[in-house]
Amino acid sequence: MERDFTTDKNAPIGVFDSGVGGLTVVREIMRQIPGEDIVYFGDTARVPYGSKSKATVIRYSRQIVNFLRTKQVKAIVIACNTASAQALDVIEAEQDIPVLGVIGAGARMAAQVTKNNRIGVIATRGTIDSGVYEQLLHELNPRFQVFGKACPLFVPLVEEGLTHDFITEEIARRYVKDLQYKDIDTLILGCTHYPLLRTLLRKVMGPGVTLVNPAYETAIELRQLLTDRGLARDEHPDGQADYRFYVSDLADQFQEFAASILPYDIHQTEQIDIEAYGALREEAGEGSHDPEGKY
Ligand code: DGL
Repeated sequence: MERDFTTDKNAPIGVFDSGVGGLTVVREIMRQIPGEDIVYFGDTARVPYGSKSKATVIRYSRQIVNFLRTKQVKAIVIACNTASAQALDVIEAEQDIPVLGVIGAGARMAAQVTKNNRIGVIATRGTIDSGVYEQLLHELNPRFQVFGKACPLFVPLVEEGLTHDFITEEIARRYVKDLQYKDIDTLILGCTHYPLLRTLLRKVMGPGVTLVNPAYETAIELRQLLTDRGLARDEHPDGQADYRFYVSDLADQFQEFAASILPYDIHQTEQIDIEAYGALREEAGEGSHDPEGKY
């Protein structure tokens, strides 16, 4: 009899991002749910997503989900704010396994933390323009005042490894100047690359502003979701979870980067042709949520 992976609690969790940023979410999953196996995909050939259209981000996300499903994942974490903002609804509607984004978790945490109800959000242009953080925060409390700022240079600076560089600090000061005038007491790091700039941002924002990293809360929500659905993994016989990494380009560079931020050694990163996963949904004969074929 064929195994039904969608209810197999010992199947891995699929996690994806446009590049290395989602590793900040993987890091939290490894810490909060150490027994779970993970299959990660970083779309290093097509990063950044933050400056791409919604249609493109949906198309990329679908291809990645198709790829992750070939690895029989039991749940998917969209470890990218831009893809969560643009594609979560579509992907969730098309999948029969749980799909979690990072934005809800970030908004809920910020709502708990703020005391003066003035919340800043820094993110990619795509996430800021979607208005999704603002919308979710207003649903939680209509009195919140939300101030967004797109920081398009942060992703390439992080990908270049310039997380502690004076150039990055100067750019950060310019980006957050407006938010500082708005007297925010909470700042959401609304891009999964940004927690890697946390030390620098803490210095720039000063002690009066709490930085919210949605990755932490997302891992907690994932743990809860797996427990609620009876999908939490049995303990590994050898005590060691299995982590597999895939990218669309520059596997060596990715692996070096991952080794510098993850608490475990990565032994191998495989490069795959992600474009090859475009048509699987149609081939599988599944119902399309996009009758006009727009995406
Ligand atoms: N790390 C991603 C995010 O959370 C996107 C960066 C990008 O590809 O622009 O938004």
